[in-house]
Amino acid sequence: MSGEAKRTAPDPACSKAGEGIPAHVAIIMDGNGRWAAQRGLPRFEGHRRGVDAIRRAVRIAGDLGIRYLTVYSFSAENWRRPAQEVSDLMGLLKRFVRHDLAELHANNVRVRIIGEREGLASDIRPLLEEAEQLTRDNTGLTLVIAFNYGGRQEILSAVRALARKVQEGSLDPDRIDMETIEAALDTHGIPDPDLVIRTSGEQRVSNFLTWQTAYSEFVFLPCYWPDFDEATFKAAIDEYFRRDRRFGGLSARAG
Ligand code: IPE
Ligand code: IPE
Ligand code: MG
Repeated sequence: MSGEAKRTAPDPACSKAGEGIPAHVAIIMDGNGRWAAQRGLPRFEGHRRGVDAIRRAVRIAGDLGIRYLTVYSFSAENWRRPAQEVSDLMGLLKRFVRHDLAELHANNVRVRIIGEREGLASDIRPLLEEAEQLTRDNTGLTLVIAFNYGGRQEILSAVRALARKVQEGSLDPDRIDMETIEAALDTHGIPDPDLVIRTSGEQRVSNFLTWQTAYSEFVFLPCYWPDFDEATFKAAIDEYFRRDRRFGGLSARAG
């Protein structure tokens, strides 16, 4: 329980309760379709321009000294979209990895992919593995790509894995603590997001990082994702600076 206590009640003198640059920013990149519709363009064009916005976000995050940037690229529920759009989104991921991996690596970016690999096409899985393997020892920004990701599905997989260990006799149910669960999640080793940004004006979580966002700050921006730029990113960080993170305790700013 010591790890949990550490994380949920940080020493105010160290964390300054939200005053430092957030170590982990997670983004729900929403509004590509509406961006395109507004311009009379096909939805694909919005998604294509959305990839440019990811490149911008990675550069800005690195410049700002953010350590972890998570981008929600394809949800476990996005399979409900028309087959052509699903195929377009898969194609954009493949193109992104093929085209950008060398540059990400050159920039010391470490890539992690979270989400279900099962169910992805056989030409995507090796690409994701290559991206992680090539960049695993990099020490700069960690770019976490949530692809075929769902927070509830992630917890379900973790529960199954732990239940199997209990069944095998290698895990005592009474010894399961917060850290045991975290270690079984796709995000093991990654700190919880300090700040979650969602673009497009929607104010919901859409099955993103369900476990990890228990104490995250949320900032909802009206702009559509392809328009996300340095000014909007900095506006979200400024809003984060105005927040008073209490983690159930009392304000570090009080008294
Ligand atoms: C976000 O944009 C990208 C994905 C969910 C893959 P949308 O495609 O959801 O765009 P809107 O919400 O329809 O405008
Ligand atoms: C959330 O956006 C998923 C991603 C950004 C990948 P959606 O557009 O799929 O979410 P809903 O359907 O509006 O909740
Ligand atoms: Mg959407």
